[in-house]
Amino acid sequence: MTLLCNLDSARAAAFAAVFERALPEIPLSLDPASVDPEEVRYLLSWQVPADVDRYPNLEIMFSTSAGIDQIAFDTLPANVKLVRMVEDGIIRMMQEYVALSVLMLHRNFVGYKDQQAKAIWQVIAQPQAAERRIGVLGLGVLGQAVLERLAPFGFELSGWSRSAKHIAGVTCLSGEEGFAKLIATSDILICLLPLTGETTGLLDAGLLARLPQGASLVQVGRGAHLDHQALLDALDRGHLSAAVLDVTEPEPLPAAHPFWSHSRIVLTPHIASITQPTTAALAVSDNIRRHLQDQDLIGLVDRTRNY
Ligand code: NAP
Ligand code: GLV
Repeated sequence: MTLLCNLDSARAAAFAAVFERALPEIPLSLDPASVDPEEVRYLLSWQVPADVDRYPNLEIMFSTSAGIDQIAFDTLPANVKLVRMVEDGIIRMMQEYVALSVLMLHRNFVGYKDQQAKAIWQVIAQPQAAERRIGVLGLGVLGQAVLERLAPFGFELSGWSRSAKHIAGVTCLSGEEGFAKLIATSDILICLLPLTGETTGLLDAGLLARLPQGASLVQVGRGAHLDHQALLDALDRGHLSAAVLDVTEPEPLPAAHPFWSHSRIVLTPHIASITQPTTAALAVSDNIRRHLQDQDLIGLVDRTRNY
């Protein structure tokens, strides 16, 4: 019974050191060429390896990422469970990134940066946090963690998900009616949805037009959620005031893309959250222990929903 890890060498050593301490009874291999394929029960990888059929006893594939849109589901044998990465490092980093972005937008830092470039010393009208409505698309592990981190600032918080939820201090919405309400009442909209057939292109011209005048966007989901031209149009006609973008389609953005130089866009190279080997090793070892004890797996993907 072996865990085969497909990790870059920098992360592999840190992951292996923790995993070997946390679950010494399961051997770990970093080398597909030398592993006995029959022994591979667990696989940690970003994508399904082209030779996945070599492992007849594979039971679980752990994705190294939280999002699993890069996984070609039809290449993963139907009997193999897919588990996405739910680990403290990803969660903490996303909380930091979104809190930073929301505070930056709330306190008009994009506007002040613009004024600085033009040597303008001028106060921009400042609503109080209780007057600023924050909406989160996606109330999963990360959406909920982000809301928890934002709560102490006193913003008015809402969120939207497929299934109805109850979260203290958050207006939880679902369904089409809930979606329309969330969009119409989000001064700062945060996208933390998975990329699926249903969510691709969701951040389009129609959605942006329905945001309140002067709203802004924090896009930390996946690049293909957003229509780039629609965002540029909404910013340039002044309907949106700013956008913080961590993900784009494609990645990296071509050098000539207008996002690079837009004064109202803050762009980062998909770094909101990065899987941390130490905490990821603990999450995977915990899940393997759960599997061995017939307990529910944390982050099990519903292969019919693609998330
Ligand atoms: P998760 O726990 O699976 O949560 C997904 C949420 O989205 C759930 O609340 C789900 O609703 C909701 N949802 C999915 N499809 C929907 C639909 N069609 N309509 C309404 N709600 C829908 O995922 P997570 O761990 O929070 O991660 C979310 C995403 O963040 C990832 O998939 C990835 O794209 C992105 N991400 C980005 C970075 C980065 O560095 N930028 C890092 C990590 C993750 P239910 O609760 O009802 O199922
Ligand atoms: C990063 O984007 C992740 O999905 O973990």
